Amino acid sequence: MKQDLLNFLHWTPEQLFPLLELAKQVKQSPVEYQTKLAGKAIVGLFEKPSLRTRLSFDIGINKLGGSFHYLDSKQDKLAGRETTKDTAANIGCWADAIVARVYSHETLQVMAKSTEVPVINALCDLYHPCQAVADYLTITEAFGDVQKPQIAYVGDGNNVAHSLMIVGAILGAKINVVVPSGFEPDKQVIEQSAALAKQYGGVIEVTSGIENFTQADVIYTDTWLSMGDDTPLEEIKSQFAPFQLNQDMMQKTGAQFAMHCQPAHRELEITSEVMDSQQSLLMQQAENRMHGQNAILLTLLNCI
Ligand code: CP
Ligand code: NVA
Repeated sequence: MKQDLLNFLHWTPEQLFPLLELAKQVKQSPVEYQTKLAGKAIVGLFEKPSLRTRLSFDIGINKLGGSFHYLDSKQDKLAGRETTKDTAANIGCWADAIVARVYSHETLQVMAKSTEVPVINALCDLYHPCQAVADYLTITEAFGDVQKPQIAYVGDGNNVAHSLMIVGAILGAKINVVVPSGFEPDKQVIEQSAALAKQYGGVIEVTSGIENFTQADVIYTDTWLSMGDDTPLEEIKSQFAPFQLNQDMMQKTGAQFAMHCQPAHRELEITSEVMDSQQSLLMQQAENRMHGQNAILLTLLNCI
C-alpha cells in the first residue's frame, strides 16, 4: 500500500529514528545513493512560493538519479481548471510521487485519496513535516541526541511549530513553545503532541507570554506572519516584539544555538546579530532539508 506523508502523526519512533539515520547516511555517503531514484519522476505542485523546499527537492532528487517536474499552480494556470481530485489522479498516471505545497491541508487529503502515488506535504496551513525532519537532523548534529537539549520555539504557533511539536513528541524531545497570548498553536495539535509525548517520553509545553521563559539550549523562531495571512504587520508587531530572537534572549536563557526555517525577516523575528553569529544553525537546517527529503523519498518509494 502506498504511504503518504501529510503530517507524521501516525509515525512511531521505530520509523522516525531510522528516517533520521538514513538522512545522515545520504548526507555522509552521497555516492552510494546516486542511482537509488533512477527512473523515478516526482512532480512538485506548488500553490505558494518557495526557495528552499522547491530547490532542495529538485536538486536532491537529481542527486539520487531521479527527475523533478515543477508545476506552479498559479503561473501554469492549473488552479480552477479542473478539480484537485482530477489533477492528482492524472499526475499519478505518470509520476511516482507528488510533492505539494498548498494553502489548505484538506487539499492534500483530497490529493492523497485521489492518486495511486505517495503525496508529500511540502507545507500547508497546518504542518511543515519536511522542515521538521531537517530540524531534528540539525539538532542531532548539534547536540548528539534530540532528547538532550531543552528546545524552545518562540513566536507564532504556526505550521512550523506544529510539525516541530509532533515530530519532537514522537522522538522524545523536550519542547517549550513560547507565544504571545492569542497566538497559541492549534488546540488539537497541542493535544495530539502532548499525548504522543506522554507515550514516547517527550515533553511538550506551551507558554503564553514571555515573562517565564528563562532557559533553553536552542531557540527556534519563524515568521510572525505566514504565507496566506494578510494581517497587516503593524497590527501584530507590538505583541510579537518581546518575542524577537536576539542576543539578549540568547544570553538570558543560556541558549547555545539559534534556529529558523527561513525565509527570515531580519530585525523582526530574528536579529542579524543572531542570524549571522556562530550560534546560528540556519544554513545547516537549510542544507539538511535536502538530505531529510531524500530520506523521505527513499523510504516512501521503497528505494533504500
Ligand atoms: N523553509 C522553507 O520551507 O522555505 P521555502 O518557503 O523557501 O521553501
Ligand atoms: N510559517 C511559514 C513557514 C515558511 C517556510 C509560512 O507558512 O509561511
